[in-house]
Amino acid sequence: MPRKTVLDLQELKASRQKITMVTAYDATMARLVDTAGVDMVLVGDSVGMVIQGHEDTLSVTLDDMIYHGRCVARGLTQAHLTVDLPFMTYQVSAAQALESAGRLVKEGRAQSVKLEGGARSVAAVQLIVDAGIPVVGHLGLTPQSVNAMGGYRVQAREDAAAEALMTDALALQEAGAFCLVLEMVPAPLAAEVTAALSIPTIGIGAGPRCDGQVLVCNDLLGLDSRFKPRFVRRFAELESPVIDAIRGYVDAVQDGSFPTREHSFGPRKAKQPGAVAQSGTITRLY
Ligand code: KIV
Repeated sequence: MPRKTVLDLQELKASRQKITMVTAYDATMARLVDTAGVDMVLVGDSVGMVIQGHEDTLSVTLDDMIYHGRCVARGLTQAHLTVDLPFMTYQVSAAQALESAGRLVKEGRAQSVKLEGGARSVAAVQLIVDAGIPVVGHLGLTPQSVNAMGGYRVQAREDAAAEALMTDALALQEAGAFCLVLEMVPAPLAAEVTAALSIPTIGIGAGPRCDGQVLVCNDLLGLDSRFKPRFVRRFAELESPVIDAIRGYVDAVQDGSFPTREHSFGPRKAKQPGAVAQSGTITRLY
């Protein structure tokens, strides 16, 4: 099955079909979300928190994103791959943004790139789009500005801020963005923006009337019981089963019940005439 393109995603909005986006950071998770039929996979700079264990996304580098982009691309067969431009790889100038976006495509195998910000990012979006690289915008809570925003909080609750967000959304569309992520904004505002734009909106904490939804894979799988923001629904609770499975392994190694003969190899047997298979053949090893 061919990978979804920007045209396929725009077609989903036109035919009022909801778009699904999930983050992934490695080939294993990419294969799982791709098999589940997700439309778009995002290598988010949330990798800084989810995988690298930082408190925020600010220390993620372009090389980190390229590495994780390449890993995820290998696991995909049908989903569209978007990779985030991390903090300070596009804010300095439009030329810097284009160079960084080019590396995400050439080296990170991204089909499109995502960047945060409205009016301040318009010149960068134009230049990247002119170079033939599709861009996803990101408005509302923009985690790379966490220090300026004073924390991770709902944005654009007041009229003036809501108007500014609408202006930014229209400016990003005008600049050539093909899609827009809306993070933690009031649901009625997200619905208004969605109605005003011809490009699809993808919401996270932005209510049900966006054209699509995005969640971080570890959140929707319930892999971290310490983290449960209001906008997340856990579609599984995998933290305990994973810990239990690993505990089972630890116990089995310690009490000697693993490995058994079934998991072990003997010496090579002399070949019998007519013998076909060589026992101990494996298809993957590290
Ligand atoms: O970095 C990320 O994972 C994101 C999504 C939460 C939208 O930007």
